[in-house]
Amino acid sequence: MCGIVGYLGPRQPKDVLVSGLRALEYRGYDSSGVAILDQGKLKRVRAQGKLIHLVEKLKNENFDGHLGIGHTRWATHGKPSERNAHPHCVGGISIVHNGIIENYAELKLNLLKGGAVFESETDSELVAHLIHNEVKSTQDLLQAVLKILPLLKGAFSIVTVWEEQPETLVAFKNGPPLIVGFGTDEFVVASDLQAILPYTNKIVYLDDFQVAYIHQSQFQLLDQKGHTLEFQTASIDWNSEQAQKGGFDHYMLKEIFEQPRAVANAILPHLDTEKFCLNLNSLKQSWTGAFKDIDLTQVERVLVVACGTSYYAGMLAKYWIESKVRIPVEVDIASEFRYRNPVLFLKTLTLVISQSGETADTLAALRLVKESGGPILSICNVPNSSIDREAHCRWYMNAGVEIGVASTKAFTATMALLYVFSLALAKIKMKLSSEQEQEAVKAILGMPSHMETVLAFDSFFAEVAHILTAVRGFLYMGRGIHYPIALEGALKLKELAYRHAEGYAAGEMKHGPLALIDSDMLVIMLAASDELYEKTISNLEEAKTRGAKIVSLGTGENEHLKSLSEHYLALPKVYQDLYPLVEVIPLQLLAYHVAVTLGNDVDQPRNLAKSVTVE
Ligand code: G6P
Repeated sequence: MCGIVGYLGPRQPKDVLVSGLRALEYRGYDSSGVAILDQGKLKRVRAQGKLIHLVEKLKNENFDGHLGIGHTRWATHGKPSERNAHPHCVGGISIVHNGIIENYAELKLNLLKGGAVFESETDSELVAHLIHNEVKSTQDLLQAVLKILPLLKGAFSIVTVWEEQPETLVAFKNGPPLIVGFGTDEFVVASDLQAILPYTNKIVYLDDFQVAYIHQSQFQLLDQKGHTLEFQTASIDWNSEQAQKGGFDHYMLKEIFEQPRAVANAILPHLDTEKFCLNLNSLKQSWTGAFKDIDLTQVERVLVVACGTSYYAGMLAKYWIESKVRIPVEVDIASEFRYRNPVLFLKTLTLVISQSGETADTLAALRLVKESGGPILSICNVPNSSIDREAHCRWYMNAGVEIGVASTKAFTATMALLYVFSLALAKIKMKLSSEQEQEAVKAILGMPSHMETVLAFDSFFAEVAHILTAVRGFLYMGRGIHYPIALEGALKLKELAYRHAEGYAAGEMKHGPLALIDSDMLVIMLAASDELYEKTISNLEEAKTRGAKIVSLGTGENEHLKSLSEHYLALPKVYQDLYPLVEVIPLQLLAYHVAVTLGNDVDQPRNLAKSVTVE
């Protein structure tokens, strides 16, 4: 999704904006641009395509002002082109916008009637026109913003500057995030922490319909009526180095390799590592608002809502919670949930999962549940993100910055957390004996080192990737807890390699997918040794007899499975429940290496965005 950066301070805005936009590249974009003060005028430079084209254009540009805004655009209204790239400028006003102005047609019509001339096909440009019309009378950027804010419908975060007020920057939003970073005599405003962290870790997240007014070295937070609001800055303990590639060719590969640490960081706050038991404080005592004294023994149902990879991680919660806690669990895709008039009970505990904490559908689903009055626990990676702030109890993936658009370490960290959550709820509801607790806690604590061992498949997939590029279609299969991993494996391949791949419950093969099978089809069978192993093997034989090529993942040295497969990958023997944490890693590596071999942009796959802040 679009990325925004604004700067006011003593540094060269060009440098801050370009480095900020670079840090936001991972969100996905198709064009970029900046508007920076120079000799009292806003000079705009924009380019279609990758940021390198903008950087090239800026090489010989100098600016003497200390104010500027920048943008990476992910097209919604109007095709990707330089003309549609932001900033949009009208008579000395310049704006950058992330989101969609839903009533743009009506607003644009009114502006056209008033004689406005539009340069672009975007919905964003009209905001520059509206502000420009207002500054003519108010002669003040803040007052102009306060006047136009009630007119805008939809999702937006906007930063605007006016060349007549060269030391003023105004930012406001409803929906997509905007963060103000407070440096020493300088401010960086951005849609994402990554663009701010090189300068400061002192930040304020804007809430919807709040306006940030930065004037010289002063900051003021206002509501939409212009009343001053109290605010507190938060300190974020991520540093910008964590967002570098650290010697890996791609962020994604680095993040795959970071998974053992990410899982450890996710689970440690919830475990007592000396007594090998659960630390229930994080679940029992960290509820806020109406749920401060929640009695979790009363929970009768768990609902999980999320999108994309977070949804697939959420699917595991059903298997683990239902088997351990013996209460029903429903898992839903947020974009479906929010529009299907779901039945919500007060005794339902809702888990809202989102790496970014900003996915528009997931946030809307959270708000819908909130209206029903039930308790909400969020699992996010980005602290202080919208979902994190709005939930009643917050758990963190603690995976560190995830830059690769295709999620990896957030997925494994979430699975580990969901496992710990299922144990904790089982314990609270007296469904877990101390022996079972100890055994499971020891098992999850051992997972990071098992995960280290499967990272060795990196070289295997680097070698065979060229063979896999010739495959026509990929079918990922698994039963039980392996089924969500089959879905996630297929998703990774689609996202990165742009190859057709499907994840299927292996027991469903006979109901359709068997017809697809021939020698051009690769079946990736998740066949770890557990109680469903024999059934999985029968499914594998069915595919094999029909000519499928098989890559199988099983436990240890398994000669039988090996004899049925073109390639056999031996996973370490782990606690049965926890195979998903080791088996997803080879699938991530497979997708990564096939995509690299095909020459695809692994960190920023085409058409995709990291943080989907519009529905
Ligand atoms: C986008 C990303 C996916 C991610 C999904 C949900 O589609 O490309 O990697 O899984 O959004 O994101 P969230 O931040 O809510 O987990």
